[in-house]
Amino acid sequence: MMKNKFYITTPIYYASGDPHIGHAFTTIYADVIARYKRLGNYDVEFSTGLDEHGAKIENIAFSKNISTQKFVDDIAEKYISLWDKLDIKYDDFIRTTSLKHKRNVVELINKLLSSGDIYEGFYEGFYCNGCENFISKKDLINGVCPDHLNPPQLIKEKNYFFKLKKYLPIIKQKILDDEISILPKNRKKEILNIIESGISDFSITREKVKWGIPFPSDRKQTIYVWVEALMNYITVLDYPSDIFLKYWPADVHIIGTEINKFHSIYWPAILLSLDLPLPKTIFVHGLFTINGQKMSKTIGNVINPNDLIIKYGSDASRYLLLSQFSAFEHGDIKEVEFDKKYNENLANGIGNLCERIFSLAVKNGICGISNNFKLDPSVLEIFNNFEVNYQCYMRGYDLFNALKSIDNLIREIDVYLELKKPWSASLYTDSNELDTILESLLWSIDKIKKSIEPFMPSTAIKINDFMLNLQINKGKKLNLFPRMIL
Ligand code: MSP
Repeated sequence: MMKNKFYITTPIYYASGDPHIGHAFTTIYADVIARYKRLGNYDVEFSTGLDEHGAKIENIAFSKNISTQKFVDDIAEKYISLWDKLDIKYDDFIRTTSLKHKRNVVELINKLLSSGDIYEGFYEGFYCNGCENFISKKDLINGVCPDHLNPPQLIKEKNYFFKLKKYLPIIKQKILDDEISILPKNRKKEILNIIESGISDFSITREKVKWGIPFPSDRKQTIYVWVEALMNYITVLDYPSDIFLKYWPADVHIIGTEINKFHSIYWPAILLSLDLPLPKTIFVHGLFTINGQKMSKTIGNVINPNDLIIKYGSDASRYLLLSQFSAFEHGDIKEVEFDKKYNENLANGIGNLCERIFSLAVKNGICGISNNFKLDPSVLEIFNNFEVNYQCYMRGYDLFNALKSIDNLIREIDVYLELKKPWSASLYTDSNELDTILESLLWSIDKIKKSIEPFMPSTAIKINDFMLNLQINKGKKLNLFPRMIL
């Protein structure tokens, strides 16, 4: 049977510095959804990558006295190695300095040029290098960019502009109709408000930025970094190849709130002009602060994801990042919560439950689930209730609540275990009754394993392998999440 396709993307991160846990958060988020869809038998294409052009990167490389290409190559290595350590199973990694990207962008820009939607103009105003964005005076707070806390540059340059205004009414209607579904609903409202308050055409080239792709019809200009960055979602599929035809449009772009306008307004407008289908969903997650403060090198609260992996391992790091706040709002990550949650929910939760059930089962000669086993109806009921919630959260990209429902499930199975006390042989004169309980518990672990698999893939494998060899593993400990000594 032909599988349904599912194309999911992360933003391509600026190759301007080392990856931090903000980048890790989005990438893990997308990876969990991609894995969930693969398990649901979808033909998944999951892309991520790096945004390597623009003034910001050019300036940083210059200040470090290294060639810009060497600088971005080094950053790319760090990202790839981190995604590897975090078990991110992407299908494609796009770098905007790659030939594939550059070639496809030129083709797309030529198509835009022939659509008649590009005109020559002059930009005089503010530009924030941190955002790589043209910003207006009303966006500034006390004269600085609220995101980067730096005063913007005042620039005057010849630019080529894109006729965004022409497409705004169509985009507005498509958003209202959920033809482009912006999730959660509050993020959709923000975009509709931006459209309502008026938005002008935007520059698609820069005159003075050398580190970029030359603009085909005026090679003194380079293509504005945001325009080619958005195009990564189709250049990664090697537009206009068969892969592109198979996977485009994106089923979901996963992004943070601060880049919603680019994805929900600029990107659909470019696609309409190119006469290409629009992304189906844009899932906009909230941003988190750390210990109540914005992540910043100056404050010194930037958490290196590599340190997290060294301390907790990859699966626990994935769990700990996704379980602290709901991505449907902005949130806060508290470092002290990591140890606490690790011990409470992983070591004492799933880890301890597996250990107890496996050793009880083997002790009683149960080394697997028999073909004619009878599932305890009370266990079935727990799972039926869980399943409805879990699937609903996963389909709605609500990973925080999906994880909460798993934590709850583990607690409920713990309660069942405490209630049935399968370690008290004297309670069970009928050995069939004890077998049913133990087999129901093994069945529960198998089900829990399946639900945690997208979140903690290597833990799922470890549980599976141990369970398949219960007899051989008799007397051994699985030791999924060794308790932290606090
Ligand atoms: N290069 C652009 C994106 C182009 S996509 C066509 C860019 N890069 S970035 O390096 O700044 O990455 C921004 C993204 O990183 C956010 O949208 C979000 O996905 C993630 N995060 C960065 N900081 C974050 C938090 N504090 N919290 C959660 N996610 C964060 O913008």
